[in-house]
Amino acid sequence: MIVIQTEKINKMYGEIEKNSINALADVDLIIEQKEFVGIMGSSGSGKTTLLNILSGFDHPTTGSVQICGKNLQDFGDDELAEFRRDDIGFVFQDFQLLDSLTVKENIVLPLILAKKQSDIIEKKAHDIIDYLGLNKIFNKHPYEISGGEKQRTAVGRSLITNPKIIFADEPTGNLDSKSSKNIMDLFCKLNTEKESTILMVTHDPFAASFCKRIVFLFDGKIHSIIKNNGDREEFFDHIIKCQADIGGVFNDI
Ligand SMILES: Nc1ncnc2c1ncn2[C@@H]1O[C@H](COP(=O)(O)OP(=O)(O)OP(=O)(O)O)[C@@H](O)[C@H]1O
Ligand SMILES: [Mg+2]
Repeated sequence: MIVIQTEKINKMYGEIEKNSINALADVDLIIEQKEFVGIMGSSGSGKTTLLNILSGFDHPTTGSVQICGKNLQDFGDDELAEFRRDDIGFVFQDFQLLDSLTVKENIVLPLILAKKQSDIIEKKAHDIIDYLGLNKIFNKHPYEISGGEKQRTAVGRSLITNPKIIFADEPTGNLDSKSSKNIMDLFCKLNTEKESTILMVTHDPFAASFCKRIVFLFDGKIHSIIKNNGDREEFFDHIIKCQADIGGVFNDI
């Protein structure tokens, strides 16, 4: 089943014919259910712009985005807000946890905002905390836990609504290599066990090597797409080679 389909997405920032920037140019992309796709490309190549458009946070200047067969542009304000609340989860480079809330409270926040019943919230919180191995820290605050634990908490929050798609923008950008591996193992587990479709922007070839497919952007266009044939180390080498072929700055974050 196709989860995301874009047709000739273009994104211009600024006024046309002035100093406008074409951040995306004619991007055609199809993402199937249960895919784990990486988006790579040098700084400024349009990765975040693409993620923001696919998740309904921003609109393309021209072109269309379909989510599960429905055109995002046709969503009304309420429908779009519901889609963002219920159907997608987001994981950010800087975690974006609320320091005044505990780990558990951060995780269940989307359900509280959706006004779910407290017994449902308790049950889901328990399941997710167990699944992510956060049992020892669920009563702590973000400033009392490590970066890796913060990101696991953020992943928990992104999962709590059972979203169709998880978007992650540089989820390992602030993590050391051990925590990065941890988070990538977790994404792989979600991808196989929970049927989650995952779209992840990363500049890190190691993190990217866990994906099943990588889309490389260059100057807002799809430059190339490569597939993982199951051998992660071989895929890692392939990613490095593609980065070298494309050139530009990949590691400035
Ligand atoms: N709000 C904005 N207004 C104007 N230009 C923007 C805006 N956001 C991004 N751009 C420009 O659009 C292009 C793509 O930006 P984008 O943030 O998508 O790149 P990126 O691939 O995510 O880069 P990075 O790896 O540095 O995060 C860049 O040239 C950027 O300067
Ligand atoms: Mg970016």
